[in-house]
Amino acid sequence: MCGIVGYFGKRNAAEILVDGLRRMEYRGYDSSGIACLKDGVIRVVKTPGKIKLLRDKVDASSDEALRTATVGIGHTRWATHGAPNEINAHPHTDSSGRFVMVHNGIIENYREIKNGLAQHGIACVSETDSEVLAQLIAYCYKDNLEKAVSEALQKVKGTYGIVVMTDHEPGKLVTARCGSPIVIGLGKDETIIASDAAAIIPHTRDAMYLEDYDMAVVTADGVRMFDLQHSPVNREVTAMDWDADAAEKGDFAHFMLKEMFEQPDAIRNAIRGRLDFEMGTAILSGLDFSPRDAAQISRVLIVGCGTSMNAGMVGEYAFEEMADLPAEVEQAAEFRYRNPIITPHDLVVAISQSGETADTLAAVREGKHKGAVVAGICNVVGSTIARETGRGVYLHAGPEIGVASTKAFTCQVAVMLMMAVKLARGRRMTRHHGQEICRWIERLPELVEQVLEQNDAIKAVAEKYAGTENAFFIGRGYLFPVAMEGALKLKEISYIHAEGYHAAELKHGPIALLQENTPIVALLNNIPGKEKTIGNAEECKARSAPVIAVVSEGDEGIAAEFDDMIVVPDCPPCIAPIPTTVALQLLAYHIAAARGCEIDQPRNLAKSVTVE
Ligand code: AGP
Repeated sequence: MCGIVGYFGKRNAAEILVDGLRRMEYRGYDSSGIACLKDGVIRVVKTPGKIKLLRDKVDASSDEALRTATVGIGHTRWATHGAPNEINAHPHTDSSGRFVMVHNGIIENYREIKNGLAQHGIACVSETDSEVLAQLIAYCYKDNLEKAVSEALQKVKGTYGIVVMTDHEPGKLVTARCGSPIVIGLGKDETIIASDAAAIIPHTRDAMYLEDYDMAVVTADGVRMFDLQHSPVNREVTAMDWDADAAEKGDFAHFMLKEMFEQPDAIRNAIRGRLDFEMGTAILSGLDFSPRDAAQISRVLIVGCGTSMNAGMVGEYAFEEMADLPAEVEQAAEFRYRNPIITPHDLVVAISQSGETADTLAAVREGKHKGAVVAGICNVVGSTIARETGRGVYLHAGPEIGVASTKAFTCQVAVMLMMAVKLARGRRMTRHHGQEICRWIERLPELVEQVLEQNDAIKAVAEKYAGTENAFFIGRGYLFPVAMEGALKLKEISYIHAEGYHAAELKHGPIALLQENTPIVALLNNIPGKEKTIGNAEECKARSAPVIAVVSEGDEGIAAEFDDMIVVPDCPPCIAPIPTTVALQLLAYHIAAARGCEIDQPRNLAKSVTVE
């Protein structure tokens, strides 16, 4: 998704802007640019391609003012309207060049506005919806930038996170948000505005988060916040808990690999202080409903996208099996549009690493609108979903930079296991059973470490299949979601067409696709249904498809008839998804590495999809 950065201070704006954009590269983009204001003149530099090209362009510029300005804005663009080229890249100016703006989000009524401006002789030069907003702000301007911005935004339908400046008022930046996150970092004699904490944490950890329809004016006197009707609003200053070093790769080849190996510690952080071994339950202070309220919950609806939805699928099994609670997981975009039947006794759980996924946020709003109790499971503190649900559980997994989600998934599952135990102990689960599950949850970091120790063995298996173009992952029960997640990991970083299927489903059609170069990853862990899944794997083998058998430690014998084997710890069904998924993450990573793929920023993907 697009990245925004704004700087107002006394240091070199261009350097800080370009570095801030570099720190947001992981979000996925295809062009970038900055605009700086000095001596009453706005300078704009933008380019398609990587940030390095932008930095080279700035460094090569003979424009001393560009390189010494102390106020500016910058943007990385993930194209939604118009090709990734220099004209469509942000920042966008109005026709006079005296107003300049960066924008995240989608202006849904941009054509209507564009036609209206054309009737006043104002012509846009790009294909983007964002330029239309820049032109509209200029058109609304009389003598006050924030008034022009609020007048323009009241004509807009859609989502936005913007930063605007004009040479009419050089000592000012104006920012506003609706649906696209904006964070304001409060430094010493300087202010950094960004769409992502990663661009702010090298400078300050004191931050304010804009809410929807907030606007802020940044000047040398500080930050003033308003709503679109210019009524003052007050947003608390919070301390961001990200560590700048943690957002760097360390000595790993990729962020994804670093984050896979961080999983033992990430899970430790996710469960720390949350297991009550005495009562055999979980302590989740962010879930503020009382035992009485919890007992009133009659159904759990889980919404998410991609990997977060796959994590939700594990949660569905856990809530039903442990807490006897009907549970359903649903792709958030489907949930938000199908007019779901919701009652006040429904608990809607929104799962989102970034806390900014547009479809998941909309699903939260739909659930709230229909009277459900909503809760979020997010990693980014202060993210929109975390704030709009008003209750939930943070992962505390640390920044996840790799676009392919790894530690967030395993921590999301760990959190849902704790939620399930908490709800179950408020129902029929015995203290002893709860204590037993808590002890297994506590062992999760150790189980993941055991899998990570298989890294070389898994790498050897991976390299045998690096040339494949199609693959299937099959599993049952708690491992069916793991088959889905394993396939998604392989798809998104190696570009292999991989499908996850319920093991029993393969013979209802997909088995027609099997041939000698279509490997099957069969999850044959020691859980109920194992024998059936072994049979499904044998059906595949009988059709010449090579089978990679994932087996529980001590059960290696069942892999003898198959082509390759990956061993994971033996553990209860509800625990198995986490170590097994780590094994599949490693398999996908090493296949992608063997294929020379761009692992941290796969083509076409973004870390946080803040548009529909
Ligand atoms: C995961 O590997 C993908 N990058 C993607 O499916 C992701 O899980 C999805 O976009 C949801 O993101 P969120 O967890 O930040 O809401």
